[in-house]
Amino acid sequence: MKTVTSETLLLGPGPCNVSDNVCSALSQPLLGHLDPGFLDVMESAKSQLRDVFKTRNTVTFPISATGSAGMEFLLTNFIESGDKIVVGVNGVFGGRIAALSEKLGAQVIRVEQEWGRAIDRDIFCDTVKRESPKIAALISGETSTGVYQPMEGVGEACEQAGALLMVDCVTSLAGMPVEVDAWGADIVFSGTQKCLGVPPGLAPVTVSEHALDAYKSRSQPTPSFYFDLDAILAYVDGDGGRSYHHTAPISMVFALDAGLKEILEEGLESRWERHERAAAYLRSEMDAFGFSSLVSEGERLNPLTTLVLPEGVEDARIRSLLLTEHQIEVGAGLGPLAGEIWRIGLMAENAQEASVDRLVEALKDLLR
Ligand SMILES: Cc1ncc(COP(=O)(O)O)c(C=O)c1O
Repeated sequence: MKTVTSETLLLGPGPCNVSDNVCSALSQPLLGHLDPGFLDVMESAKSQLRDVFKTRNTVTFPISATGSAGMEFLLTNFIESGDKIVVGVNGVFGGRIAALSEKLGAQVIRVEQEWGRAIDRDIFCDTVKRESPKIAALISGETSTGVYQPMEGVGEACEQAGALLMVDCVTSLAGMPVEVDAWGADIVFSGTQKCLGVPPGLAPVTVSEHALDAYKSRSQPTPSFYFDLDAILAYVDGDGGRSYHHTAPISMVFALDAGLKEILEEGLESRWERHERAAAYLRSEMDAFGFSSLVSEGERLNPLTTLVLPEGVEDARIRSLLLTEHQIEVGAGLGPLAGEIWRIGLMAENAQEASVDRLVEALKDLLR
């Protein structure tokens, strides 16, 4: 069996390394999932999530599964067969929302953009106003391409069209501005293994009052047990008594609570700036090896930088040597960008110059 070292520096698209505090939280003695002590930790995590999402939504909690489950939970509860959804598709994850919506019987209208560029907001907003869909969905941080989606004006267009605004914040949350209420976003999800600095395993979600009204007017019950919003709320909220729905992953909720505490102690703005500085330093250092940015300034996702490989650098061989000889993971390109780019994550703990320095030293050795 391959030896697992605790020193691997995780500079891929997530997971990233986690802090000692988060590790200690993971190894705390277990409590029962209806134990008042655990419920206090869950309440604390929910309240801190509201601050990190920048929302006052009461319905804000972690789904017990990874980021994709956040997506599936929202689509399963808010789409009914025949509903229209407009989706911005400029990479893998927009494509995933579109594909999943189709499985749920939705009529999907894709607003496409070249991979490596943000969705054109004028085209997206005009499409939303013309089509009046049930949902309009965008990816805040497209991890397959390293694009951060500007959101100005999108919430207003959705409001005019009577559409719920859905946003995937898996990679942007706590690493770049995510302002759920200011954006006018209604249904938003994330994942724990990126800038929240916690292992993979939970999908924080938040749901607006407006979205709850839409949910109440479904013509059919949600066709899922695990993702049924009402049943989950009776478990994670349940004023005066919680009814069993599933067994929450206790240790992961401890870890999430500890990770969120660290984020709020650092301050969201300072954390966003730290991610910005680290990404700028990475680009400038990688420039010397001939790597160039895939994404133009103003559309870059600081937690995940996409760099075009210079001629002569063998993608798979060098990534493999980085891992085996230097214990550094970097991510490969996906889909049409496979073999063309690297995806380098500087997330949470790893968003610092020291991570970049370690990568640069390793590359000097390998590309010498
Ligand atoms: C933008 C985006 N959305 C959704 C997901 C899916 O999350 P998970 O892999 O945790 O299921 C990811 C994972 O990388 C992502 O980057």
